[in-house]
Amino acid sequence: MAKKKTIGVGIIGCGNICQAYFNGVKAFEVLRMVSCADINMKAARAKAQENGCKAETVKELLANKEVDLVINLTVPAVHAEVSLAALKAGKHVHCEKPLAVSLKDGKAVMDLATKKGLLVGCAPDTFMGAGLQTSRKLIDDGWIGRVVGGTVFLMSRGPESWHPNPAFFYKAGAGPMFDMGPYYITALVHLLGPVKSVSAITSRAFESRTATCKEHFGEQLPVSVPTHYTGSLEFHSGATVTATISFDVHRHGHSPIELYGTEGSLKVPDPNKFGGSVELFSAVAKEWQTQALSHPYADNMRGIGAADLAYAILGKRKHRASGDLAYHVLEVMHAFEKSSNAKKHVMIESKPDRPAAIPLGLIHGRLDN
Ligand SMILES: NC(=O)c1ccc[n+]([C@@H]2O[C@H](COP(=O)([O-])OP(=O)(O)OC[C@H]3O[C@@H](n4cnc5c(N)ncnc54)[C@H](O)[C@@H]3O)[C@@H](O)[C@H]2O)c1
Repeated sequence: MAKKKTIGVGIIGCGNICQAYFNGVKAFEVLRMVSCADINMKAARAKAQENGCKAETVKELLANKEVDLVINLTVPAVHAEVSLAALKAGKHVHCEKPLAVSLKDGKAVMDLATKKGLLVGCAPDTFMGAGLQTSRKLIDDGWIGRVVGGTVFLMSRGPESWHPNPAFFYKAGAGPMFDMGPYYITALVHLLGPVKSVSAITSRAFESRTATCKEHFGEQLPVSVPTHYTGSLEFHSGATVTATISFDVHRHGHSPIELYGTEGSLKVPDPNKFGGSVELFSAVAKEWQTQALSHPYADNMRGIGAADLAYAILGKRKHRASGDLAYHVLEVMHAFEKSSNAKKHVMIESKPDRPAAIPLGLIHGRLDN
């Protein structure tokens, strides 16, 4: 029998973000779109028609032998439930962030995958884009020496002015850390390796917030999660990074990520995007210099993580946006509140491998290294 060369994809969850994934699947030759599903069949049918694939119920998609990999784009509250169902059906899974809401559910997903001999990948995959890969190359090539410190700032006044359904952002499983934190913490682990401990204080500025989006204008949104997180991350590498992640701030003037090394400093672009400007201050040049991007994928390429996972399924190598990495990020995010509540440093138990850097010179649409 001829060896399989492509991986059949089924998308579950046809909401806001799914079109970016349909585009991503089309961009990589290793992925083949089979079908899509949603509890809202109207949404699934519309996306199937737009993208030239089959619309199925979740049950049909999970029974479809053409589907090797399920891309789970449902809401965070059901990520674990949908991923577990896909694994039980013998499918590999790539899930949107976070891997799960609770650590217990995240572990259940990873344990079942191991038991079934299946692979789990998880967003964000933005760290595989041009901005973060260029930053990684500069660090790995020694341009700033040994990284000793850094800062992360993700601060905004929250999504209730623009998001059509903002209430869930202030409930368990969301807030600024679980919604946006995965981008920043994943980027740091990609650049510096795994986190050893977290020491943090969390707070909330408002017990209730007023929606100003047109769909829910004037409605009160009760807040049941912290909305301002500030803390320090200690990495196994020895680096320490100060992070503030907040939905309580109108404006600020900080870079998203700065890293400070023994030989220079690096301004890393926003890891919520694929491209961006990378700036290097080297002790030799003695000024900030914008760097040419060394890697491709500067535009939205959500799905690159699923393509990378497909090569791992085909037995080529380990995937980068892995479930192990996402579980570690989930543990770190939970550690902020745990540390704040206990008024103690929290040691992180998981210690995934730092994902491999993407080599230079790959053909667009292929990630076979
Ligand atoms: N919207 C964005 O800009 C964005 C960006 C990056 C990541 N994400 C992440 O992507 C995921 C989806 O976000 P979204 O904005 O597309 O949400 P959404 O609410 O627009 O879409 C989610 C879809 O999942 C479906 N769904 C819910 N439960 C289901 C179930 N049990 N089985 C099948 N379908 C189910 C819903 O009917 C809906 O169509 C989230 O994890 C989010 O954090 C979203």
